Amino acid sequence: MPSSNPRARHFPPPMSSTSLSPEGEEVAEEEQVVTPWEVSAKQGGKIDYGKLIDQFGCQRLDQSLIDRVQRLTNRHPHVFLRRGVFFAHRDFTDILDAYERGDKFYLYTGRGPSSEALHLGHLVPFMFTKYLQDAFKVPLVIQLTDDEKCMWKNLSVEESQRLARENAKDLIACGFDISRTFIFCDFDYVGGAFYKNMVRVAKCVTYNKVVGIFGFTGEDHIGKVSFPPVQAVPSFPSSFPHLFSGRENLRCLIPCAIDQDPYFRMTRDVAPRIGYSKPSLIESTFFPALQGETGKMSASDPNSAIYVTDTAKVIKNKINKYAFSGGQDTTEKQRKFGANLEVDIPIKYLEFFLDDDAELEQIRREYGAGHLLTGEVKRRVIEVLTELVERHRRARAAVTDEMVDAFMAVRPLPNMFS
Ligand code: TRP
Repeated sequence: MPSSNPRARHFPPPMSSTSLSPEGEEVAEEEQVVTPWEVSAKQGGKIDYGKLIDQFGCQRLDQSLIDRVQRLTNRHPHVFLRRGVFFAHRDFTDILDAYERGDKFYLYTGRGPSSEALHLGHLVPFMFTKYLQDAFKVPLVIQLTDDEKCMWKNLSVEESQRLARENAKDLIACGFDISRTFIFCDFDYVGGAFYKNMVRVAKCVTYNKVVGIFGFTGEDHIGKVSFPPVQAVPSFPSSFPHLFSGRENLRCLIPCAIDQDPYFRMTRDVAPRIGYSKPSLIESTFFPALQGETGKMSASDPNSAIYVTDTAKVIKNKINKYAFSGGQDTTEKQRKFGANLEVDIPIKYLEFFLDDDAELEQIRREYGAGHLLTGEVKRRVIEVLTELVERHRRARAAVTDEMVDAFMAVRPLPNMFS
């Protein structure tokens, strides 16, 4: 592959299939790329999540599993389960089997604090994790990888630490129960039992292996090469002796977006070799950019996403101006042909955040049939998002520095399982 191709540096290598050009030559078609650092669909298309399941070798989260979650937790499944936002898993059934027998588990998720303001996509895994924590009544550890962002985003150590604490406030605002939640920053917490596990993992992963999984090159600094064990070991209860000592067999369930899968493929590969059980995963799709599912929310383009810091006025303006519409371009045509719901961003956003199944179904039906106009659907989306963002803003404003310290204190958790 020519080195001028920026994708040449990324793994898994874009799998290319060939087809014939109009001149009859064989041309390589670039496939989608999904890594922790790059998400791009095949040219002009959407991410093919079914194909990702096959490429990564995870399992589809089907209706029978969702029904099982409903039965075991005795609650209506979360909207992200009902609508297929969390669509893939690895050994989630093992977690449920054990839970059914009366064995609990713990949750592990995380965030790389690369920016001050979170957008709605950043909230998705945390909103879902909160639901899991409440529904199953289990403990949760949240890793803030200030070290990762310091190395990848070229932030100073101090700036990464500051961002981690700021982001912790947004996570706490999601409503986690302090009696069951431990939040930690790598710069503060890595050491002791956690570090011993990092070394155990590192000894099992060759340089070739890490290059195969993550696509590091000879030009990448060695900080990057050495990072994956940091994200791996929160999967093992013995990394948290103040929480789980005497419970080293506790299972771990990781809710995350599917771009984090490479870290946990590595973790699951190593776990049995160091005498630990493999973590299970439950994995989500990506939250689409305003400009459509082919685009990517980009940190450098504030108009590609709704931020939790956006005012009502900004939200209204962004939706009206930038949200890609599947509606027809004139009222007459819309009445006649209806909207293409497949590409419509307001509909997508309602699928994520409008809890009422009956209302969503009605909007889909009427918009698809042309009885509703784009402007009317956008008005509803603006309402839903404004309410969500306002609620988040109020909750975040109530989070004090003392609360952040309390969530991060290295302490036993009083009601882990009740
Ligand atoms: N690498 C993730 C990010 O950049 C942060 C992270 C650390 C994480 N541990 C995790 C995400 C576990 C999901 C699950 O955002």
